[in-house]
Amino acid sequence: MSGELKGKKIVLGVTGGISAYKACELSRMIIKEGAQVKVVMTNNAKKFVSSLTFQYLTGNKVADDMYDLEESGISHIQLADENDLIVICPATANFISKYANGIADNLLLNVLLASKSQIILCPAMNVNMYENNLIQDNIKKLIKNGIHIVEPDSGALACGWIGKGRLANLETIMEIIKKKVQNKSLKKENVLITAGATREYMDPVRFISNPSTGVMGYCIAEEFQSKGAKINIVAGYNEVNFDKFDSYKEITTAEEMRNEISKNLNKYSLVIKTAAVGDYRFSTRLDNKVKKSDDVFRVELEKNIDVLKYIGENKKENQIIVGFAAETQNVVENAKKKINSKNLDLIVANDISKKNSGFGQSSNFSFLIDSSGNIDELGLIDKNDLAKKLASKIEKMRQNF
Ligand SMILES: Cc1cc2nc3c(=O)[nH]c(=O)nc-3n(C[C@H](O)[C@H](O)[C@H](O)COP(=O)(O)O)c2cc1C
Repeated sequence: MSGELKGKKIVLGVTGGISAYKACELSRMIIKEGAQVKVVMTNNAKKFVSSLTFQYLTGNKVADDMYDLEESGISHIQLADENDLIVICPATANFISKYANGIADNLLLNVLLASKSQIILCPAMNVNMYENNLIQDNIKKLIKNGIHIVEPDSGALACGWIGKGRLANLETIMEIIKKKVQNKSLKKENVLITAGATREYMDPVRFISNPSTGVMGYCIAEEFQSKGAKINIVAGYNEVNFDKFDSYKEITTAEEMRNEISKNLNKYSLVIKTAAVGDYRFSTRLDNKVKKSDDVFRVELEKNIDVLKYIGENKKENQIIVGFAAETQNVVENAKKKINSKNLDLIVANDISKKNSGFGQSSNFSFLIDSSGNIDELGLIDKNDLAKKLASKIEKMRQNF
């Protein structure tokens, strides 16, 4: 037992889908990490797996009847209140839709609706069911209400179809469970994270930009959220989904990003600027599409708004500002200069000349450098792990602020 969930109480809700048998293994994995598991089943779930199996695996009676308080020995309100986390695995289309619409016609739905706990839901179903607009709308509704949806995997489904709908890998679900119940050491932080790429338009259809996909900002947002921080995102073009965070504003240009940030800058305790903001923009933006004519077409660029500098100049007391730098040479020296010129507390300097590092990659070759000159050479590091390092560095810095 490695014990990462030691002492935690987890309610595992099982609904009537073909992958209900995988919930047996999940219950064992959770127990192996030291948590206590109480299983709640829908009546239809029992058509797929016996409650006896869960009772034997978890050592606890399975709750399945709303009204039979004597048999289960626990009410739906107790189940809703006395836990660190509720996980629904698998979640059927039927269950998702009922829950998203506030229906409470079985024990598990009552538990969820009465609970203030963190909730993870793992959908699993036929691909056409999953892609059905009604189900997607209900899933979006749940995400908006703070429910963590573990996206299903794609592949061969039990029903014979191939596509998205297979229950997510149990290891992935376990990672999310662990994140949810880990310490909330950053719960006092109100964080602004900028992400993605800005676009500067020359005419209605042409622009200059960069290959940023927003993944780094997303990894940081997830890590800091799992440690209890409030997460606000201002992002340019990106290829991720920021909807689940506390606020999300999409912008196009550097100027729009600066304007959006300026609205609430004073309210943030921590600003992390992962966005790749264009250094230059067109001197004039044309209203109509430029026609192809001469062989050579000259444009003039002017210096763009420096968003990071703006944030640094307007830094308030106790605010921590973290910048990112993408460099191809003199990485550490250039990053150190940037700390001073932009009034930063910390910088993540990425050597994008290294293989598998930078835009569109899942890793970075990074150095963490603080304003006192301390350098952590992290080397090639997965963006999720980089987010973890950044979170623990901020925790330490906060102690001295
Ligand atoms: C063999 C079989 C497999 C099923 N698998 C799934 C499934 O994987 N996902 C799903 O959403 N529904 C599945 N269903 C349909 C559900 O059992 C049905 O919608 C039921 O009402 C769900 O009840 P519950 O949400 O109260 O547990 C399956 C039905 C059968 C007969």
